[in-house]
Amino acid sequence: MHSTNPTSRYVPTSIIGHSVFLPPKVLTNAELERRFDTTDEWIRERTGIRERRVGGKTSDMAIEAGRKAVNLAGVDASEIQMLVLATTTPDHIMPSTASLVHHHLGLSGVSFDINAVCSGFVHAYIVANSMMSTMDINTAIVIGSDCLSSLTGADDRTTTVLFGDGAGAVVLNKTHNKNAYSGILGIDMGTDGSGYDLLFCPHRGAIEMDGQEVFRRAVRATVASAGKALEMAGMKAGDISLFIPHQANYRIIQAACARLGISEQHTAVTIETTGNTSAASIPIALSMALDEGIVSEGDTILMSGFGAGMSWSSVVVRL
Ligand code: COA
Repeated sequence: MHSTNPTSRYVPTSIIGHSVFLPPKVLTNAELERRFDTTDEWIRERTGIRERRVGGKTSDMAIEAGRKAVNLAGVDASEIQMLVLATTTPDHIMPSTASLVHHHLGLSGVSFDINAVCSGFVHAYIVANSMMSTMDINTAIVIGSDCLSSLTGADDRTTTVLFGDGAGAVVLNKTHNKNAYSGILGIDMGTDGSGYDLLFCPHRGAIEMDGQEVFRRAVRATVASAGKALEMAGMKAGDISLFIPHQANYRIIQAACARLGISEQHTAVTIETTGNTSAASIPIALSMALDEGIVSEGDTILMSGFGAGMSWSSVVVRL
C-alpha cells in the first residue's frame, strides 16, 4: 500500500477539525407569513425550508466556526499556515474578511477571500488542497461564511424565503498514513458568465434573481459537474458514502439526486432549518454529518456547489 493514490494529483490531506456556527436569531415561515403575501405551505412545498437563521456578520460567524474547528483539531492556531475564506458578503470592500479572521484566530502564513458565491466553499477546498500540494503548507483552514439574508429586498418575498446566514469550517492537515490515501480523488470547476445577470446583487442594492432559470441551470450544472468529478476519481455514484450538494432548494437536490442515481439516504439535507447559506451550506452539512457519525474516516464523499456567476464546482474526497 502507498500513502498516495497514484490516480490523484493531490497530496494526501485529512480533515482534522470541523465546525458550524449559526446565528441565534431564527426566522420562521410563520413570521414571513406576517410580513409578506406568502404561506408556510408555499415555502415548504417550493423550497423545503421551514426556518433560517439571520442577523449574522461574516467575520464574526467565520471566527466562531474557525475557533471551534481549530480547538477540535487540537493544533495551535499559529501552526495553521493558510486560511481560505469563501464569502460573497465580506465585511468591507477591502481588506479581505480573511485578514480580520486570520488576525482574530491567531493564524500564521497567508489568508485570502474567494468569491464564487454558493460554489465558494468547494472552490476554496480545491484551492487549499492545490496549494498544500505545491507549497510548504502542512495545515490550513477553509471556511465558508455568508450573510445573504442581509442582501434580500425588504419587499421581496421570493428571495427572503430562501436565504439564511451561517458559517462552516474545516481544518486540513497533510497526512502521512501509510495504509490508505485520504484526500482529493476528483474535481470539476466551471463558470458560465453568460448567466451573469440571472442571479446578481449590485453595490448597495438587493439580490435579483430569475428563479426558474436558476433552478433549471442548478440541476443541469450540479449533475454535469458531479459526474465529471466522479469520472476523474474513477468512481460511480454508488461508490459515494455521502453526497453533499449545495443547499439551495430541496427540489433542486431531489432532481439532481434522481439524475445522478444517488438515493436521498446517501444525501446530506440541512436546508429545512438553515435555508440557503451560500458558501456556508456545504461545510455546515459536512460538519453536521461528521458530528452525527454519518460519515467518518475511510468514507468517500462528493461535494457539489452551484451558484451565481453562474459558477459550479465538485470534489470527490476520501476522508
Ligand atoms: N410566496 C408565495 N408566492 C410566491 C412567493 C412566495 N414567497 N415567491 C414567488 N411567488 C409566486 C410568484 O410570484 C408566482 O406567482 P404568479 O404565478 O402569480 O406569477 C408563483 O409564486 C410561482 O412562481 P415561480 O417563480 O414559478 O415559482 P417556483 O416554483 O419557480 O419557485 C423559487 C420559486 C424561487 C422558489 C424557485 O424558482 C427556486 O428556488 N429557484 C432557484 C433559486 C435559487 O436556488 N437561487 C440560489 C441559487 S444558489
